[in-house]
Amino acid sequence: MIGELDADAVAGYFRGKSILITGSTGFLGKVLVEKILRVQPDVKKLFLLIRAAGVESAKHRVETEVTGREIFQVLKEKHGDRFDDFIQEKVCPLAGDIVYKNLGLDHAKLTELSKGIDIIVNGAATTNFYERYDVAFDTNVMGAKHICEFAKRCNKLKMLLHVSTAYVAGEQEGILPEKPFLLGETLREGVHLDIESELNLIQETRREVEANCYSERVEKRTMKELGLKRAREFGWPNTYVFTKAMGEMLLGHLRGDLPIVIIRPSIITSILNEPLPGWMEGIRTIDSFIIGYAKQALSIFLVDLDLIMDVVPGDMVVNAMMVAMAVHSEDQAQSIYHVTSSLRNPAPYAVLVDSGGRYFLHNPPCSKKNGEPVRLSRMRFFRTLPRFRAYMAVKFRLPLEILRLLNIALFGAFSRRYGELSRKYRYVMHVAELYAPYALFKGCFDDTNTERLRAALKANKEQNKSRGYDFGFDPKSVDWDNYFYSVHIPGVVKYLCD
Ligand SMILES: NC(=O)c1ccc[n+]([C@@H]2O[C@H](COP(=O)([O-])OP(=O)(O)OC[C@H]3O[C@@H](n4cnc5c(N)ncnc54)[C@H](OP(=O)(O)O)[C@@H]3O)[C@@H](O)[C@H]2O)c1
Repeated sequence: MIGELDADAVAGYFRGKSILITGSTGFLGKVLVEKILRVQPDVKKLFLLIRAAGVESAKHRVETEVTGREIFQVLKEKHGDRFDDFIQEKVCPLAGDIVYKNLGLDHAKLTELSKGIDIIVNGAATTNFYERYDVAFDTNVMGAKHICEFAKRCNKLKMLLHVSTAYVAGEQEGILPEKPFLLGETLREGVHLDIESELNLIQETRREVEANCYSERVEKRTMKELGLKRAREFGWPNTYVFTKAMGEMLLGHLRGDLPIVIIRPSIITSILNEPLPGWMEGIRTIDSFIIGYAKQALSIFLVDLDLIMDVVPGDMVVNAMMVAMAVHSEDQAQSIYHVTSSLRNPAPYAVLVDSGGRYFLHNPPCSKKNGEPVRLSRMRFFRTLPRFRAYMAVKFRLPLEILRLLNIALFGAFSRRYGELSRKYRYVMHVAELYAPYALFKGCFDDTNTERLRAALKANKEQNKSRGYDFGFDPKSVDWDNYFYSVHIPGVVKYLCD
């Protein structure tokens, strides 16, 4: 049973707290840091663990990549000339890296932090679907382990909040529950996963590559392919979600009685309300299609327009995280929340395509050459991977094959052109295969736990208006068509398209 609380109580929870945050240079991390500083200026300290050579360079990264970004504009205006002093007083950059035991911090810093930290938020991750297995394993699996080990040393810690992803569910269909993974669990029946053996496999592969003096390129490709192979062997579609699932497993296994909240968002999109509607960073699944179309580099899409794309604006994810922290403080359980929309307010891909089509019709992209509006090509959609493959084979693979034969007959006259085109073809096919699990996703994320959390939050619209912020995270409040047309797509064009 979760007790009721209002926005004042949520903001009030952070008063006097010291919070260690990883991933603050990333998209979601910035939204979180900004929101805490805006709604609770009396937070004691935000320790931001940043990958950097030393504290000066960590400071520089915070200034340029976190507090220097547009999303801090509202906070800057609020504090005026005192903004830099405020940041200096509240934000403490730490040079560290979650891939290392003790987060790469020295003994003195570690001891100081372990005595003072109240909350840890682990948002750091590598989010690349086709990441090298060693890199993804170090960050998403060992990183979670190192954070958990550190959390257990913090004697006044109220909780560890770990950001995972709803897609740890792989490509399962139907209603997907908010349930924890057991250690060794996989998505393929009859197959057991041994995380230790995965680590050994990575180390062995590294040794083998080194012993054979392969180039860096070969090593990178070997590691990337190994990740995909292992992920698929155990039933996950890519290295990212596979390693995120293993990270969750280790947290659940190692936590003892440490209070843990795991937040599993689906596809995070631009800010809906606060502080800067449309703001976002980093190109995600659906945004690559928007950008591809805006640049008129893409007009064919592998997507079933009737299927639901599960999206959730970044500010809603952060609101859910903050409410969960306030609610689960010192609660010795492990709580899992799907911060998703497919169950409460499903948005089919058709909504994105309609609103996108209208948006670009009213705001046509301009040619880089002469600044004139370009003529938009017609969008074509393929509902299945075999149909997409068949179209690509006829339209591109076949002409490529003819070019290859012509090239042989003409003693390599088209070698360069053939090389370029076949690389492009392979790239498009590779991206389509990687994104297919999301474009053709048939699952629906249950969010019963999250609904309970929402119910605990007493909303008072009038009060929230006068405060200038709220903690709402109800997808039912979003009109998707309006959001895509007026907020998200203009945001993608403004912040991601250059
Ligand atoms: N974006 C989405 O659509 C989405 C959806 C579901 C779940 N999530 C989850 O939400 C979290 C945040 O995602 P995001 O989109 O904000 O990611 P992001 O923009 O790619 O940022 C990732 C952050 O993690 C940091 N990081 C990576 N490796 C690290 C390491 N070894 N040690 C310390 N920090 C490290 C990065 O630091 P550098 O700047 O040094 O690289 C960066 O700050 C992730 O856990 C992700 O799995 C994201």
